[in-house]
Amino acid sequence: MPEIWFTPLMALLLLAFSSAVRSCPPSDLVALLAFKSVLRESHGGIFNSWTGTDCCRNWRGVSCDRNSRRVAEISLRAGPVYTTFEKPYRPDYMSGYISPEICKLTHLSSLIITDWHGISGELPRCISSLSYLRIIDLSGNRISGTLPADIGKLRQLNLLSAADNLIAGEIPATLTSLTGLTHLDLRNNKISGPIPQKLGQLQMLSRALLSGNQISGPIPVSICHIYRLVDLDLSNNHLSGPIPEALGRMAVLSTLKLDTNRLSGSIPASLFGSSISELNLSHNMLEGSIPDTFGGSCYFTLLDLSYNNLKGPIPKSMSSASYIGYVEFSHNHLCGPIPSAYSNTDASSFAYNDCLCGKPLKAC
Ligand SMILES: *[C@@H]1O[C@H](CO)[C@@H](O)[C@H](O)[C@H]1NC(C)=O
Repeated sequence: MPEIWFTPLMALLLLAFSSAVRSCPPSDLVALLAFKSVLRESHGGIFNSWTGTDCCRNWRGVSCDRNSRRVAEISLRAGPVYTTFEKPYRPDYMSGYISPEICKLTHLSSLIITDWHGISGELPRCISSLSYLRIIDLSGNRISGTLPADIGKLRQLNLLSAADNLIAGEIPATLTSLTGLTHLDLRNNKISGPIPQKLGQLQMLSRALLSGNQISGPIPVSICHIYRLVDLDLSNNHLSGPIPEALGRMAVLSTLKLDTNRLSGSIPASLFGSSISELNLSHNMLEGSIPDTFGGSCYFTLLDLSYNNLKGPIPKSMSSASYIGYVEFSHNHLCGPIPSAYSNTDASSFAYNDCLCGKPLKAC
């Protein structure tokens, strides 16, 4: 009966073998320890769990690929999840910088280090060699320096977020090679220079959020060819030139924020009756009159045209819009009667114009 005798031994051997295979490779272990060594965590809620030699097991924020056992994900998000028992109400804090040793984790597909506010230093250049990367989310830190010029090498990248940091310099032209990118979020940094002409090559992009920088130059018309774009936020920059008319012909664009720039020219009629439901064009240098193209297909939860140089009347067609939730037309040079459909609107929405009249302002 050799089977009976062999079975427990086999099982033991298998177990020993599989645990050896399962632990993380020594090179990944060394890289992770180097990564950890230049970061300081206030409560130790994460790094206290980084003990032993198997980084794939119970190391908080580290996950390995099931088959290769290579480190595939680093996910260190500040927030309630990690606040520890001693001081549950104090937000956790991490300082230090992101070590270039991270680039030795050659199978890394997800790098998430968010909302620590104290992590500074530059983004390691070598990050563009991590060809498996799909997700980079470093939002809410104090990372400075520039985005790597060769970031376009990360052909697998779906999500790039570095919002709320101190990143300067220009948006690298090679970024337009990241053709799988669905989310681009670089809000609230110190990015300057133009939006790459060929941004429209990013055909998978659904959110492009670049607000709160010092980006200048025109809005590239190529953006209008991004078929899946839902959310375009370019507000609070130094953009100039006209608003591309084709923005109003995009299939699924629903939020368009261009407020606080130096945009000039008139408001394209195409924007009214498009798929856009949230439109903020305030604080620009737009002139001409408000297009008289409101109609049944016009549905705005928010329409803010304040602080421009718009003149002429409020178009009569505005009364036939299917819905306009929040209207803000103040600080322009508009003149004439306010359509009765808007008589219950807050007066401040129409204030500081040349000669608007009728409810909610004074009678004509
Ligand atoms: C539109 O943008 C301006 C300027 O950035 C901002 O102050 C305003 O609150 C925005 N409007 C709405 C309704 O959110």
